Amino acid sequence: MRNIKFFDTTLRDGEQSAGVNLNLQEKLEIARQLERLRVDIIEAGFPASSKGDFAAVKQIAETIRTCSVTGLSRSVRSDIDAAWEALKGGAEPRLHLFIATSPIHMVHKLRMTPEQVIDAAVEAVKYAKRFFPIVQWSAEDACRSERPFLAKIVAEVIKAGASVINIPDTVGYITPKEYGEIFLYLQNNVPNIEKVSLSAHCHDDLGMAVVNSLAAIEHGATQVECTINGIGERAGNAALEEIAVALHIRKDYYQVETRLNLQEIKRTSNLVSKLTGVVVPPNKAVVGKNAFAHESGIHQDGVLKEKTTYEIISPELVGVPSNSMVLGKHSGRHALRNRVEELGYTLSEEEINQLFVRFKELADKKKDITDDDLVALIFEEKFDHFNEFYQLSSIQVQYGTNQIPTAVVVLKDGKGNEIQEAATGAGSVEALYNTLERCFQTAVTLLDYRIESVGGGRDALAQVFVKVRVNDVETSGRGTAQDVLEASAKAYIHAMNRAVMIEAMRGENEKVATT
Ligand code: KIV
Ligand code: ZN
Repeated sequence: MRNIKFFDTTLRDGEQSAGVNLNLQEKLEIARQLERLRVDIIEAGFPASSKGDFAAVKQIAETIRTCSVTGLSRSVRSDIDAAWEALKGGAEPRLHLFIATSPIHMVHKLRMTPEQVIDAAVEAVKYAKRFFPIVQWSAEDACRSERPFLAKIVAEVIKAGASVINIPDTVGYITPKEYGEIFLYLQNNVPNIEKVSLSAHCHDDLGMAVVNSLAAIEHGATQVECTINGIGERAGNAALEEIAVALHIRKDYYQVETRLNLQEIKRTSNLVSKLTGVVVPPNKAVVGKNAFAHESGIHQDGVLKEKTTYEIISPELVGVPSNSMVLGKHSGRHALRNRVEELGYTLSEEEINQLFVRFKELADKKKDITDDDLVALIFEEKFDHFNEFYQLSSIQVQYGTNQIPTAVVVLKDGKGNEIQEAATGAGSVEALYNTLERCFQTAVTLLDYRIESVGGGRDALAQVFVKVRVNDVETSGRGTAQDVLEASAKAYIHAMNRAVMIEAMRGENEKVATT
């Protein structure tokens, strides 16, 4: 059977989703989880685009040992140099070079002739080969490129040393039949094409990213590029979990193998959703909350008699836990540490100690602490206080049916100064957010507000997600607490801390390029 390589671009193309900006700590955690999922290649970022991206790619390359780590690069020497500096400590450094090949992009964006584009591509591949053992070359907007030109440039970059050729459907325009035909066309018209790997990279603008990726595999691709939960620019990229499970469940049809550990899928999906703030729709294939729920009486009856009547994927296959371990106020530090490790999180001694304090506080208020509660606490401990500038000291909110809701908030800023403000609003959350806006002395637009309970029950923890715009920075935040208003305040402050960090990095962190 052919082996299909999974190239995960959650941290590069996925991070280009509107409002998603992960910090170093979060990117590293996602990379570690992708390693557990056993993807073949992790695209960790675009090193020349910013100092933040450079640092993240470098740290990920130096941390991950069992996957190849790559970074994106335009076809210019300065990008390639930055990528080498970031990636050279990796277990198997590879470069992902790209240049646009469609008439629309060459004329309007690059303002280059087709010959100039070929020269730039060839020169970049040759230069990259001085450093990188593996160079992947991508024809941006390949699917709207003229096929003879595409074949010509692919032949030239193979001659120059590229060993993986990626055919992106950058704007999500192609149909499965046409995409398969492009792969066949290249195999029939490019000399030495059998010496390189062909790769698919699909966007979901017309809802065909997964099916196009599968069509590419049927027509000779041996690598697919995708993101967890299908996140990405505009409508997103092809969803890794959907391609992976389709190949597994329909192995009889596709006749291919992968090295993925499918049981890590659900956990990876949860982690990416929580850290990016991008919700997984309940009906989403493979990882949605309802993907394994049988609602109609006839279906339930069938499944009770014989699971396979209506269930083609078992929840266990993708690691949906069948039972959740419960801890309580008598559980000790040892039991807590064990469960944290079983859930797949690596915490330092100090983080475990702090988590234990939070765990005990919660156990005093809530009888059973489930895995979901624990994960919420771990997130708070590990990610939500990373590099924070503002800290919540206290909130007080007054609400009555015939009263004007009023909030008082006390914060501490990074210099230890106390900030206290009060304001009113049409409702409790508005009063709270008006007060916080005063504390920050800057206009904040609330773009989204979502509240969820962690598990069920009246005593469940509340988890709030917000998306805000501060000046021209769009970012998100999350907060967890037993009280919904406290969780709301924490989410808002978390988003503001991210905005402060993004602003601070900006001066030295000029975005030099975007894709
Ligand atoms: O969609 C695209 O064309 C890309 C390339 C940079 C590979 O993401
Ligand atoms: Zn893309």
